[in-house]
Amino acid sequence: DKGNYKHFMAKEIHEQPEVVARTLAHYIDFANNCVRLPFELPFDPKALTGITLTACGTAYYAGLVGKYWFERFARLRVEIDVASEFRYREAPMPENGLMLVVSQSGETADTLASLRYAKTQGQKIIGVVNVSTSTIARESDVAAPTLAGPEIGVASTKAFTCQLTVLASLAIALGRARGVLSADEEKRLVNELMVVPGLLAESMKLEPKIEQLSHRLGKTTDVLYLGRGPSYPLALEGALKLKEISYIHAEGYAAGELKHGPIALIDEQLPVIVIAPSDPVLEKTVSNLQEVSARGGKIILLGDAHSIAAAATPLAGEIVMPAMAPDFSAIVYAAPIQMLAYHTAVFMGKDVDQPRNLAKSVTVE
Ligand code: M6R
Repeated sequence: DKGNYKHFMAKEIHEQPEVVARTLAHYIDFANNCVRLPFELPFDPKALTGITLTACGTAYYAGLVGKYWFERFARLRVEIDVASEFRYREAPMPENGLMLVVSQSGETADTLASLRYAKTQGQKIIGVVNVSTSTIARESDVAAPTLAGPEIGVASTKAFTCQLTVLASLAIALGRARGVLSADEEKRLVNELMVVPGLLAESMKLEPKIEQLSHRLGKTTDVLYLGRGPSYPLALEGALKLKEISYIHAEGYAAGELKHGPIALIDEQLPVIVIAPSDPVLEKTVSNLQEVSARGGKIILLGDAHSIAAAATPLAGEIVMPAMAPDFSAIVYAAPIQMLAYHTAVFMGKDVDQPRNLAKSVTVE
């Protein structure tokens, strides 16, 4: 049931404040401002040597964001690859290693094959899954549920932000259990996570502005997305979302890679979406943005008032997000990225919920 929405995708985008809050409530002890995992870790966290993470598509991008958190909060090495590559690489895997697989459906063939390979290599498996009865949930040592509810739209939205929520919680929990994150730090991070649903709700109010910008995107053939740090995987996700449902060619790049190639694409026609929350790498992103601007690129800046002021360059468009702490801004910034793709596709008259050539669950390779 789509409720009052025209598409499942719109409904699922708007459900995010609620389902992220529900997922958080499953992992966070709100009374004591700490993470409380709904399961026992299937290994000794102090002996853990590293994490291997595999997934496909949007779930893989969630993993890429998660990598920043596991490194920073739990001081763990993270090896990450798409499952279709990982499953055939015969990668050596460490002793006392954790394999994290991320999957909405829990049925993706390549992700499942990667899980099975990791098992033969003696890894402990945590499956971050949305469908609790799925094969991946069953074959994991521990299923870490995302409580997004059924996701019908082929383009993943609410599953992504719930995956991020679970990965963030897990990173904090591992940091604490390994003795590398102090109780004060945990409290600070948990407080930041607790405001995410409210920030998501606030960012929904930007929809009219985003819809207006989408009319411009709907008339182009190519779009470039740039981001740094956790905003880099968001740039990849933004490009994937746009191409999936609007069929516009889009690419996501790490902002710092610009001068290693893609800057050659910049001309007066190319829309460049720069994802720039106020975070420790903002200054660097701004200098990339100015390089685009100097070459006449049409910048649409997704940032807060501070980052927009810092850009100090004419913009073709801006999406002004609420101010927030930097650690989990990727969860909140996912929403405008999704809305931009959604409205562009709707403006172009595309079948948003059932894009051509795509299946919701890829159970064959
Ligand atoms: O069910 P899964 O999370 O394992 O699916 C992975 C990908 O097939 C999926 O995220 C796909 O990329 C979506 N269509 C993205 O919107």
